[in-house]
Amino acid sequence: MMRTHYCGQLNETLADQEVTLCGWVHRRRDHGGVIFLDIRDREGLAQVVFDPDREDTFALADRVRSEYVVKVRGKVRPRPAGAVNPNMASGAIEVLGYDLEVLNQAETPPFPLDEYSDVGEETRLRFRFIDLRRPEMAAKLKLRSRITSSIRRYLDDNGFLDVETPILTRATPEGARDYLVPSRTHPGSFFALPQSPQLFKQLLMVSGFDRYYQIAKCFRDEDLRADRQPEFTQIDIETSFLDESDIMGLTEGMIRGLFKEVLDVDLTDFPHMSWDEAMRRYGSDKPDLRNPLELVDVADQLTEVDFKVFSGPASDPKGRVAALRVPGGASMPRKQIDDYTKYVSIYGAKGLAYIKVNERAKGVEGLQSPIVKFIPEDNLNTILDRVGAVDGDIVFFGADKEKIVSEALGALRIKLGHDLELLTCEWAPLWVVDFPMFEENDDGSLTALHHPFTAPKCSPEDLKGNPQAALSRAYDMVLNGTELGGGSIRIHRKDMQQSVFDILGISAEEQQEKFGFLLDALKYGAPPHGGLAFGLDRLVMLMTGAQSIREVIAFPKTQSAACVMTQAPGAVDAKALRELNIRLREQPKVE
Ligand code: AMO
Ligand code: AMP
Repeated sequence: MMRTHYCGQLNETLADQEVTLCGWVHRRRDHGGVIFLDIRDREGLAQVVFDPDREDTFALADRVRSEYVVKVRGKVRPRPAGAVNPNMASGAIEVLGYDLEVLNQAETPPFPLDEYSDVGEETRLRFRFIDLRRPEMAAKLKLRSRITSSIRRYLDDNGFLDVETPILTRATPEGARDYLVPSRTHPGSFFALPQSPQLFKQLLMVSGFDRYYQIAKCFRDEDLRADRQPEFTQIDIETSFLDESDIMGLTEGMIRGLFKEVLDVDLTDFPHMSWDEAMRRYGSDKPDLRNPLELVDVADQLTEVDFKVFSGPASDPKGRVAALRVPGGASMPRKQIDDYTKYVSIYGAKGLAYIKVNERAKGVEGLQSPIVKFIPEDNLNTILDRVGAVDGDIVFFGADKEKIVSEALGALRIKLGHDLELLTCEWAPLWVVDFPMFEENDDGSLTALHHPFTAPKCSPEDLKGNPQAALSRAYDMVLNGTELGGGSIRIHRKDMQQSVFDILGISAEEQQEKFGFLLDALKYGAPPHGGLAFGLDRLVMLMTGAQSIREVIAFPKTQSAACVMTQAPGAVDAKALRELNIRLREQPKVE
């Protein structure tokens, strides 16, 4: 071994000891005849001092530049009073350098690491191997590693087996597009990369493995956002003979233990909230409960008003009219209201009506609003009472199809919470339960809200009779407005699985062709089973306070699902395509 210690591990207890460090030159300073090198490794920094009395070493220290890789032997000594740096783990000591060896030189890096200023994500990703040298990036990857090791320990202690499942497989429907891989040996046929290990983990239950987990790579070709990557990692879990409360209890214990161990945070017991309540009160199936604002339904007061924008959705069973009270918001300038109106239009809202409550005692006179003239005073008072409006508040209104109102006001609620700094606590976990089985598409067809293997709460007959009304045995864990994980009790009977496929409009042949192996497995003794999967990247993002999952993945893809460092995806040569039996429709442009 070349080094005796990591730089960041040095402290007063090592005073007078000789140490050998290996790392990168973070910073070099000349100070009245002595040279200071800050040496950096993954654990932190150490300051090494070179005196001119060791002539050769001093001359070499004078020649090294930023990011040279060096090996230093020296003696630890306390820093002189006044030179202690409380911001540095090793800030109470320094190393008096005896020998210095340059292990490798470095060109001037594309961005400086000693005085880092934001150089833009594109540059950081192109030179990710340098970006990851930054202590804040190293800290995130180190925390990620502690998180996975804590989780593995918890699951190992609870009798879970780590089993790997294939990457080259068939489509595993989770609602996204598949990444496809052409087969050379089966011309014209394609593997799909797994969107999740869903079907394999269910098959492992049929095989009797009882408690399975895997830290699994998943692949989804979907539109990317800050919390979505085309390739991401799940903590994937499946169990047999446990019901939903067992599974929620077990995994809640895992997350609570993890927060205690890694962040020393005590999470409360997670409340359970039905999907319906979450949508009504927060306009979202992943409510951020740190935010005190709530949506309040007011359609019943507006069915008769002389304002079509409100009376239309108020009378439509698929419509919604909801109010959102913002305490102290009456002072909001017009410009800000216009900005919020523009913001909700992203979600399809056609406007954002409001009432500023200046002085309720004055009746309509005390209100400032483009819509009060349309609403009878009694109804107005009922609405204001219902939302709890007091002087100084603003109340926003959304009226449209239910989905648009919930999404628009739900998003506005989150934005207001951040803009006005309304959040009441640091961590707000919960379980969302009682999801509907299906969601209706615009053409009236149905899609599974979770995935098609989720068990309903009702019998196959009731399910067929009224699929829209059926609830599922699914549960999502939500933390601070992010869906951390989701799962369900699965269908373990063949007839029920076929009923669900039927309702989804999957023909008998297609069921056989795509899911024949699953239907087979369900007829050879499938135990009752269920599980869930956590998004590891999202978990690490929340626990490190990062703004995007790209910050906690060593080598992430860009928003356009490419890698700017390796230039993947890339062209392949004609011979490889021919072997794969593939001819491109258009020649890619020569660059
Ligand atoms: P689901 O599709 O809800 O369920 O995924 C589980 C969790 O994975 C994370 N996640 C993602 N993270 C980053 N980028 C993405 N593109 C992405 N997509 C999903 C989320 C999500 O909660 N097989 C089921 C689980 C089960 O039923 O057991 C599944 O994959 O945090
Ligand atoms: P208008 O009659 O178009 O001037 O709209 C009057 C007020 O209603 C304005 O404040 C609009 O922003 C608002 N508004 C219009 N459409 C909607 C809608 N669908 N939901 C909520 N407010 C709306």
